[in-house]
Amino acid sequence: MPNILVIDDDTKILEVIRMRLETNGHFVETFSDPLKALENLREKEFDVIVTDVRMPQIDGIELLRRVQRLCWNIPVILLTAYGTIPNAVEAMKYGAFQYLTKPFEGKELLAEVERALGKNGNDQEPVGSKLEKHFPGVYGVSPKMKALYPLLESIMASDSTVLIQGESGTGKELIAQMIHYNGKRKGNRCVTVDFGATASSLIESELFGHAKGAFTNATENRKGVFELADGGTLFLDEISSLSVDLQTRLLRVLQEGEIKRVGENSMRKVDVRVIAATNQDLKEQVKKGEFRLDLYYRLAVLNINLPPLRERHDDISLLADYFLKNFSRKMKKAPMHWQEGVLDAFMEYEWPGNIRELKNIIEAGVVFSKGEVVSLEDLHYAGFPTEILENGFERLSDEDRNGLSLPEVLELQERELIMDALENKNWVQKGAAERLGISPRVLNYKIKKLNIAIPS
Ligand SMILES: Nc1ncnc2c1ncn2[C@@H]1O[C@H](COP(=O)(O)OP(=O)(O)OP(=O)(O)O)[C@@H](O)[C@H]1O
Ligand SMILES: [Mg+2]
Repeated sequence: MPNILVIDDDTKILEVIRMRLETNGHFVETFSDPLKALENLREKEFDVIVTDVRMPQIDGIELLRRVQRLCWNIPVILLTAYGTIPNAVEAMKYGAFQYLTKPFEGKELLAEVERALGKNGNDQEPVGSKLEKHFPGVYGVSPKMKALYPLLESIMASDSTVLIQGESGTGKELIAQMIHYNGKRKGNRCVTVDFGATASSLIESELFGHAKGAFTNATENRKGVFELADGGTLFLDEISSLSVDLQTRLLRVLQEGEIKRVGENSMRKVDVRVIAATNQDLKEQVKKGEFRLDLYYRLAVLNINLPPLRERHDDISLLADYFLKNFSRKMKKAPMHWQEGVLDAFMEYEWPGNIRELKNIIEAGVVFSKGEVVSLEDLHYAGFPTEILENGFERLSDEDRNGLSLPEVLELQERELIMDALENKNWVQKGAAERLGISPRVLNYKIKKLNIAIPS
C-alpha cells in the first residue's frame, strides 16, 4: 500500500487529508511539526509527501530542500495559501512535484497524489537524445559532452568512487543523481551532504551519527548519512570545504568501510558508494596543503570533469529550448518561442554561472514575457546582461544604427566580426572559429545564415 507523509501545522486539515487519502486505499502518516516529520523520514520510506508551505518551525520550501538531500526522488506536493506566481515558481524551481492552492478540492489532491505515485518526482524530462533513458535533462551534442558519454556509461556500470569536478552550475549534482539512478544501487537511497553548507561542528555527527547523550543536544540516538545511505550512494558535495581533520576521518572510513557513531565505541559496517563533487581545483588544493593527497586519490578513482557552458557552444540552444519548453509548460503558458536574435545573444555570452544561470534567466524570462515570444527585453529584466548587446550599439556610429532594430544591429556586428576573423585566417574556417571562440560547426551555421560569401 502506498505510504503518504502529510505535514501541516493545522491539525484539522491533517485529518481531512488523512480521511480522503485513507478512504482511497493509501496509508497515511501525519505530522504537525515538520522537523519531527523529517526525523521520521530518515528512518522510513515514503512514496509521496504532501506538505503545507506556511509553518512556524520551517517552511515548506525548506522542508522540500531537506527532503531532497535525504532522498532525491520522492515527489513532494506543496499546499500553499497564496496562489501567487512567485510562490509557485519558487516551488517548482526547487523541484516540487506540484503545488495546490488552498482551499483545494479533496479530489484534486487525490488526483495529484496518484499522479505522483505513477511517476517519480524528478520532473526533468529528457528530450531529444537517444541517450535520454539515462540522462535527466539535456546533455547535448558538443564535442566535450560527446566525449563524456562513454565514460559515463562505464561509471554507471561500476561501483567505484567518483570525483566530479566542474565550475558552479555545470550540473555536477544532476550527474551524481544520474549515476545513482542508473546503477545497481538505485533501489536504495542516495543521500547528500553539502560540506559547504553544514556547520563544521555538526559535520562529524551528520556523517557518522551519534549516541544519545554524546553532546548537549544529542537527545536521541541518531544515524548519520553513512548509515542512511547503506546499500546506496552518498553524495559528498563541496568536498573541498572539509577540514583537514575531518578529511583524515573520512579517509579512514572509506578505507575500512566502517563507521563509529559519536559517543559510541563499537564500529558499524557500512556499504556505501561515494560520489564527491567540488567546484575547486582539488589538485591545486593538494599542492597548497589544504587537501590530503591520499584522500584525493581515494576519491578520484573515477574522474568526471564537467566543461563550463561557454565551452559547449553547440549545446546552448538545445538547453535553452529545453528550459523554455519546460518552464512554459510548468507555468501553464502556451508553447513559447524566442524573439529573433536571442539565441545568438546567448551564444555570445560567457555564462559564468553556467547551466544554472541559463536556467534561471529563462525561467524569469518566461515569467516576464507577456505573449508567446520571449524577447531580449524580457530577458534583460530577467537578469540577462544586455551590455553585450549595448556594446554592439555603441560600436556602430549613429548613422549606421539609424532606424535599425537591436537584432539587426547585432547581426551587422556579428557579420563584421566573422568577416574580420575569416580574413585574418585566410578564410580557413577552423582557424577563424578558434579566433572567435566558437566551434567550426557554429561558425559554419552562422556563415550560411548571414550569407557570407567565401572566396574560392
Ligand atoms: N544537462 C542538464 N539538463 C537540464 N538541466 C540541467 C542540466 N545540467 C544542470 N541542469 C540544471 O542546472 C542547475 C545546476 O545544476 P547542478 O545543481 O547539478 O550544478 P552543480 O554543478 O552541482 O552546481 P554547484 O557547483 O553550484 O553546486 C540545476 O537546476 C540543474 O537541474
Ligand atoms: Mg551542486
